[in-house]
Amino acid sequence: MDALAFSTSVSGKIEDDVLLVSIDNPPVNALSAHVRQGLTEALDHAATLEAITGVVITGAGRIFIGGADITEFGKPPVEPSLPEIIERIENFAKPVVAAVNGAALGGGCEIALACHGRIAGEKAGFGLPEVKLGIVPGAGGTQRLPRLIGLPQAIDLIGSGRTVKPAEALELGLADDMAADPLDAALPLVRTMAGQPLRRTGMLPVPVAEQAAVDTATRKILSKARGQAAPAEAVRLITAAAHNNLETGLTDERATFLRLRDSEESAALRHVFFAERSAGKVEKLDGVTPRKIETVGIVGTGLMGAGIAVAALTTGYRVIGVEQTNEAAEQGRERIAGILEKSVQSKRLAPAMRDDCLARLTVTADTSELAAADLVIEAVFDDLDVKTGLFQKLDGIVRKDAILATNTSYLDPDLIAARTARPERVVGLHFFSPAHIMRLVEVVDCKATEPQVLAGALAFAKRLGKLPIVCGVTEGFIGNRIFSAYRREAEFMVEDGAAPEQVDAALEAYGFPMGIFAVNDMAGLEIAWARRKRQAASRDPDARYIETADRLCEAGRLGRKAGRGWYDYSSGERAVDPQVTALIEAARAAKNIVPRAFTDEEIVTRLLKAMADEGAALLAEGIAIRSSDIDLVMINGYGFPAHKGGPMFSASR
Ligand code: 3HC
Repeated sequence: MDALAFSTSVSGKIEDDVLLVSIDNPPVNALSAHVRQGLTEALDHAATLEAITGVVITGAGRIFIGGADITEFGKPPVEPSLPEIIERIENFAKPVVAAVNGAALGGGCEIALACHGRIAGEKAGFGLPEVKLGIVPGAGGTQRLPRLIGLPQAIDLIGSGRTVKPAEALELGLADDMAADPLDAALPLVRTMAGQPLRRTGMLPVPVAEQAAVDTATRKILSKARGQAAPAEAVRLITAAAHNNLETGLTDERATFLRLRDSEESAALRHVFFAERSAGKVEKLDGVTPRKIETVGIVGTGLMGAGIAVAALTTGYRVIGVEQTNEAAEQGRERIAGILEKSVQSKRLAPAMRDDCLARLTVTADTSELAAADLVIEAVFDDLDVKTGLFQKLDGIVRKDAILATNTSYLDPDLIAARTARPERVVGLHFFSPAHIMRLVEVVDCKATEPQVLAGALAFAKRLGKLPIVCGVTEGFIGNRIFSAYRREAEFMVEDGAAPEQVDAALEAYGFPMGIFAVNDMAGLEIAWARRKRQAASRDPDARYIETADRLCEAGRLGRKAGRGWYDYSSGERAVDPQVTALIEAARAAKNIVPRAFTDEEIVTRLLKAMADEGAALLAEGIAIRSSDIDLVMINGYGFPAHKGGPMFSASR
């Protein structure tokens, strides 16, 4: 057996008559220039050596190939290009088989598609996630996948960007076989193919599909596209594969890929991709060992507490829920079990996993059971005295090394910490509701928080599968502080002449799922009202203050749950209410404001600027670690469209 080096990242072994090519480009075996060069060398080698009858391509480590190297986007192209290599593989005279040991994504999946056979290892995954980066597959994916698995299935896969596991890949015809170790099956397969006519994916006819199935798959993708270009372009290219020859389809695909790769949408989504990878990295925690967490106490099992409990249970933690009475504990348990049951019904959770979760759950009225917890999260009423009292009580119950986390949204956790016996073990874990679904968690590094405690809380949030963003203490942390600035600006514009429905329509056209006034109605206006009343005495009397929201609350218009807020919901739909219009007009008249017209563009520009300015202040104050963290908070907690990259990204363009 000879070892061959085709480039710094591509090596080969000759196993009798087969060349086994291995790609080793950590961390994800991306198709960087040296990988492409190595693959070309490997194919040259296999082509010239008569003794080689076939080629197997695999990835070193846990990934097959993670796709094109995204860091090369925007840089001058380096030969050979990926489409050239892929075309060469497909037309190769000797059989080429992909031994897919792990994720085969984007260009990695396109290489596998061009091979003459595909074996899925048990950790394999196949996906074309390009639309998530604002692009379409650029090396044949939109033309070969429909030829292999059919139009509706290809539209679903490429349009959603989802990854399929081995069993589904086999069912779809994307993989030919499954094996614990894909090499075990790939080597015999490639040998049986030698000298036989090869099945070249690009030469296959696209299977005839029912038009209704194509339409349904298309509608599903386009309904979720929310103003993004890539999903519609992907659907167009895939559908065209049914009537175009391969060459025409590939030319159109490549041109579309290059155009989208250079678009703002793709730049924004790539920014989000890299932002997510940097999130949760905290320099001062380098080398710090996180406190170990296995058992989580949750005080308060209402909507928020139950959501946190489900997130913890489904990721393997033991959970002790605490309520004030046995009856409330029973209700809490039912609430948690109910959410788990719903997940089973929607097939997000296997029934056996639900049983396992329930076996790890205790809900009790006996606070002393928290002595067993490594971390206790409070999810009780957002009141300083309530939370402080609880932590003081916990001081006498939990172990000395247990972490105490507050889920407050607006209170100052430093004040809570200062009144406990060990402020250094207090940290903030600000979840968003519903906590088992929303990815965002603000991990609040309080004044006295010990590094091991912060690292423990961060590791916990990561294991929950959340997107943790570390921030310092300030009113509302990152998200709610920016949200307040954004709302203030929207209210200024309404007082100056814009209508709430115009502001909302402008935001929705920009890509928010819901405008700010509709969001306020959905969340309920009472919490912000209570806060304004609390802060009334300390408010700067010279600062502009908009009273409209107070007037709405005083009139019982507390939002959607009350049936009325900024809008009227009595018909079940959001409707403009003349009473609100009259209230706004009265407020303008009281201040002698002559209303002026706003364009939608001005509305969006001013709101984006308000968010970015507040973000800049958070950075200057050291509350946020990096500007991309702010973008992630607004995207994952407040509906900012990911394809616009977040307020800081958009301000930087
Ligand atoms: N190019 C360059 N760097 C990449 C990369 C890629 N395609 N994919 C991941 N990375 C980097 C990440 O930025 C991260 O860098 P860091 O350590 O400096 O932060 C590192 O690799 C590890 O990434 P993850 O933390 O995401 O590792 P995981 O193990 O959690 O996940 C993965 C691995 C599933 C491969 C995930 O990284 C992923 O989804 N990557 C993107 C896949 C993708 O979108 N591929 C398509 C690319 S576009 C394309 O192929 C176009 C073609 O059609 C022409």
